[in-house]
Amino acid sequence: MAFLNSKMLIAVSAIVLVCALIYNKRLYDLRQERMDRVLHGLLRAEKKVGVDRNTRIALGFGGCEDIFVDAQEVLSKMNLSAVSDPEHVTDIMSDLDFVKIFSYFFNAGAAAERYVENNTFFSEVAAAARDSTSARFELGGNAPAMARRLAMEGAEILLGARFTEETLKSLPESIKVLGKPLDVNELHIILEYSAGSIWGNYSASRANRFIIHSDKSNPFLDTLEDLERELPSFDPSVLVVGGLQMMDNFPFKEGVREERLRKLKDLLIATDRSTKTHFELASFSDENLMQEIVDSVVYYSDSLGMNEQELPNLVSILTNGKISLISDSKPRIATVLDQMRTVFNLLKDTEETDGKRKLTRLHVHTLAYQAILTTKGSEWKNTMAAAAKASLTANRHVCGSNFIDTEKAKILMDDSFSTSSVDAAADRIPLEEQRPVSCWSEDEFNICIAPVLVCTEVFQTGGGGDNISSAGLLYQI
Ligand SMILES: *[C@@H]1O[C@H](CO)[C@@H](O)[C@H](O)[C@H]1NC(C)=O
Ligand SMILES: *[C@@H]1O[C@H](CO)[C@@H](O)[C@H](O)[C@H]1NC(C)=O
Ligand SMILES: *[C@@H]1O[C@H](CO)[C@@H](O)[C@H](O)[C@H]1NC(C)=O
Ligand SMILES: *[C@@H]1O[C@H](CO)[C@@H](O)[C@H](O)[C@H]1NC(C)=O
Repeated sequence: MAFLNSKMLIAVSAIVLVCALIYNKRLYDLRQERMDRVLHGLLRAEKKVGVDRNTRIALGFGGCEDIFVDAQEVLSKMNLSAVSDPEHVTDIMSDLDFVKIFSYFFNAGAAAERYVENNTFFSEVAAAARDSTSARFELGGNAPAMARRLAMEGAEILLGARFTEETLKSLPESIKVLGKPLDVNELHIILEYSAGSIWGNYSASRANRFIIHSDKSNPFLDTLEDLERELPSFDPSVLVVGGLQMMDNFPFKEGVREERLRKLKDLLIATDRSTKTHFELASFSDENLMQEIVDSVVYYSDSLGMNEQELPNLVSILTNGKISLISDSKPRIATVLDQMRTVFNLLKDTEETDGKRKLTRLHVHTLAYQAILTTKGSEWKNTMAAAAKASLTANRHVCGSNFIDTEKAKILMDDSFSTSSVDAAADRIPLEEQRPVSCWSEDEFNICIAPVLVCTEVFQTGGGGDNISSAGLLYQI
């Protein structure tokens, strides 16, 4: 009897197990079908637009060599362990400073990029990075990364950046580089970590990276004068300004930073109105610098690009003159939309005197979705396709492959979202699988939101914003 019972028990367990497996498989299939539909919707939207071979784009500033490494491998090679008091350190002078600030951003899963003042310490990290099994080398810098992406898409590029002769030879012919060659490339160390990785008592809430550099040339925007000279004859559709974070916390001599930014402002003022200006934000921690950038670059830009950390930082500096160092790394769409409205409302009516420009385009890239806002009746085209393009580029960049595999992706965006967290009468917009890019218009602007098929097998996160922003921009000119 007991024997029979245990046999029955096994049979029942087996049936339950099979049912559970079938159920799981069914759930998995449903999820997979949904992802495939979203992917097809995005690809369809992307295909609607082609890139004009004669598109010319100018970009500045800064060039470097990037080392991408697994953060934990480098930290353990250097015997550095987590501290119990993470802290935002402004001048990274020692290994302790470094560990404190790394813990600070790692714990928040927030991207950041910082200058290291101690050359000896920087060389030690560089040596450990070069010696890591996870090390990958690439040509880097915001402007060059955007330049290569745009060149790959077929545009003709004028780039204000400095590299060694050898690096210059490796660039595609469609990129014309201004700026005297360097003896050694500046080096940026990109310490990457994946979602959920553990360090000491901390666990990263999302995949991200912490970047350190100790640049000598980039903070001075060395190629500004070259760009100024060549810009009129090149006559680009867009002038893209990025890489200004290299100035953050750099020990400039009195007045030099202000002088360089004034020079940049003059360049923007002198830029013909037929050339649109785009500024790609980055991680800034110096309040004065950020305010100077607002005064000399933001008010002179037709278009702005930024991530979910940089948006609240911009809102904060525009509304109360303060920096916000860290924000939610996975913000709700409603919150981001409210912040985008704030920025748009503050910059849309800029009086177009002395070379200032009204903001007519705003692109916010987050892990889960892409949001692009354009002023009604402005010259920016194809917002829907641009949002789809940016979203697909995010997956391609992070997974490191042009082919998108939905088995290695997930959708983090909810099935529907509210268009505002402060307006009680806000609409709820569903994520439609067949037409995944949601577009609507409000008083003075049109806006599109595209879900990102978030890559789950991360190849790289650094440089993603540049690829994503430039891909979106290219579709709109
Ligand atoms: C790290 O610690 C190990 C063991 O204590 C030691 O062999 C190694 O030399 C240390 N490395 C560094 C870079 O200090
Ligand atoms: C980790 O957490 C434990 C328990 O909360 C605490 O005792 C310890 O000091 C922490 N260590 C670090 C390095 O933060
Ligand atoms: C700079 O870094 C080196 C190597 O890590 C260290 O020995 C030195 O004390 C640091 N200097 C300062 C001022 O902290
Ligand atoms: C991102 O841009 C770089 C060039 O800057 C390129 O090498 C890389 O392949 C791009 N990634 C994707 C997935 O497009």
